[in-house]
Amino acid sequence: MVTGASLATASLAWETTAQTTVQTATQTAVPVESKKVRLAVIGTGNRGTGHLRNLLDFPEIEVVAVCDLVKTAAERAAKICTDSGKPAPTVYTDDDKAWKRLLETEKLDLTIIATGWPMHAEISLGALEKGVYVGCEVPIAGSVEDCWKLVEASETYKTPCMMLENWSFRQDNLAVLNMIRLGLFGEMMYSHCAYSHDCRDYFYYDNNGNERWQLQYFKKYNRNYYPTHALGPILSWFDINAGDRFTEIYSVATPAKGVNIRAKQRFGADHPGATTAFAQGDVVTSILKTALGKTVVLNLDVQLPRPYGNRWIAQGTKGIYDEEKESLYLEDVSTKPGEWEPFPPYQEKYNHRFWNRTYPGGHNGTDGCELRQLVDAVLAKEQTPLDVYDSVTMSAVVELSGLSITENRPVEFPDFTQGAWKTRKPYFALDQVLEQQS
Ligand SMILES: NC(=O)c1ccc[n+]([C@@H]2O[C@H](COP(=O)([O-])OP(=O)(O)OC[C@H]3O[C@@H](n4cnc5c(N)ncnc54)[C@H](O)[C@@H]3O)[C@@H](O)[C@H]2O)c1
Repeated sequence: MVTGASLATASLAWETTAQTTVQTATQTAVPVESKKVRLAVIGTGNRGTGHLRNLLDFPEIEVVAVCDLVKTAAERAAKICTDSGKPAPTVYTDDDKAWKRLLETEKLDLTIIATGWPMHAEISLGALEKGVYVGCEVPIAGSVEDCWKLVEASETYKTPCMMLENWSFRQDNLAVLNMIRLGLFGEMMYSHCAYSHDCRDYFYYDNNGNERWQLQYFKKYNRNYYPTHALGPILSWFDINAGDRFTEIYSVATPAKGVNIRAKQRFGADHPGATTAFAQGDVVTSILKTALGKTVVLNLDVQLPRPYGNRWIAQGTKGIYDEEKESLYLEDVSTKPGEWEPFPPYQEKYNHRFWNRTYPGGHNGTDGCELRQLVDAVLAKEQTPLDVYDSVTMSAVVELSGLSITENRPVEFPDFTQGAWKTRKPYFALDQVLEQQS
């Protein structure tokens, strides 16, 4: 068993270094000085541009700056702002430290960070130091050390920090959360979740056969590098960091075959991708144990041909929900003993208050829903719906799963709340209307 302290010195990461001290797990919101939300978007590629378009629909949003190290990407983002009828933001570009100049210069309430993975923690830390709310893409950190740094910075600067884990805000997942909180599944015991997504043409080589930026990691590491979409809803279903916590993780990986096969299909046998020895296994399976003895099984499955799926299962002492089957069984409620029944009527009945309206944007409005809750928190000067502890708990799996695979043993999961999980109450997506009805 390894401790959090020894992990902090390990060098399995997206390359980071310094040690940090840990503060207590209490936070207050940073003041916001106006009813407008002064926003900067850092990293205006695919995802950052999507967030920008969604946020431009919110009347409170003033985009004061956009930043990308690629000039055309930053200028395209600025044009999206002016095309929408809003003022032109200041453009920061040309080098990989332009984001620092932006944070030094601009007076901001919120920054959205959608660069590639290696820069997430560093830019988030820069924003937290300036007292600027952070909404950062997934995963927010690639090392346990950076996870601790983010906790320390969010606590020290009393500034909320949210990883933009959109699947926590899905309509079906939030209805299941309402049902769990109403006790319909009894006491939660077990969950399965996955990021199953054929990403062979997305994470590895572009259409011309050039390496994408992610590929460097797959040559070097074997781990669950994308755990957060699967784990997002699980954190609230299991009251992780608010009554329970992850204590241990054990991970295994299959051999790496899928990327070689796909590169040969797309670019021919002479392409380097056809023969490169990738470290990253095709399917990574992790078992997470909680302090209360619950179990979560987590898959990363992105290198083999398959349709998309998250394969969420939530099982308690009174019933089970299966997202892939779009079905559930509740011992006290279902009319046919031992038979699945359709989930959609339950989703309608237990619809979460976040979904009493429609939202702009991708993933059936889920991205708009997530951003709406984040902006509302900034306006109200409140804690973000997913806080720094949630964000780093999901992200720590990146390094911990790799260590477990390499050393073929369970690895201790750090307690980022420093014991506060025992007394913290669930806070994510509380649905008071529903709770009053029950
Ligand atoms: N939540 C979701 O559903 C979802 C979907 C897609 C992507 N993502 C995440 O969003 C992030 C971005 O993914 P993407 O598909 O937009 O990638 P992308 O490559 O299209 O965009 C990343 C952008 O960041 C810029 N960048 C990199 N380093 C920078 C730096 N130091 N300063 C300023 N700009 C910098 C790049 O030039 C690029 O334009 C990734 O972390 C990815 O995992 C999340």
